[in-house]
Amino acid sequence: MIVVGSDHGGFELKEAVLELLRQRKLECADFGTEGPASVDYPDFAAKVAGAVSNGEADLGILICGTGIGMSIMANKFTGVRAALVHDEFTAQMAREHNNANVLAMGGRILSPQQGRKLVEIWLDTDFAGGRHQKRLDKISAIASQQS
Ligand code: RB5
Repeated sequence: MIVVGSDHGGFELKEAVLELLRQRKLECADFGTEGPASVDYPDFAAKVAGAVSNGEADLGILICGTGIGMSIMANKFTGVRAALVHDEFTAQMAREHNNANVLAMGGRILSPQQGRKLVEIWLDTDFAGGRHQKRLDKISAIASQQS
């Protein structure tokens, strides 16, 4: 299950991403926003990241104007590794090295075509594991010491 959310700054790209996921026959859910009216990105980041954190969803996609606010909020949730990506290389690395379970993008940075391409790369890339898993384990261990 892939859950997708945006604020008004990411609304257009969110719709394009959902169309892609449906075309690929992937199980997905639209967590809003429903239109271009101004809303607050933390509310939508919390819905998506919360679903990934509690296991309701396997993956999440969050889009605001820059992707910055969404990634900041999503990374407050236990077990969430949200990666803000801007190009094909960062989309690939977000999976290959960081095994990001939430993808954050900027709807005011990327065209719908560019954003859809980054989602495809992230979905189609495998996590490399090995030394990268050790580093993710360190993130979890250090995060658990903070709470
Ligand atoms: C909303 O204007 C904008 O601040 C938001 O979409 C996002 O870019 C925040 O990080």
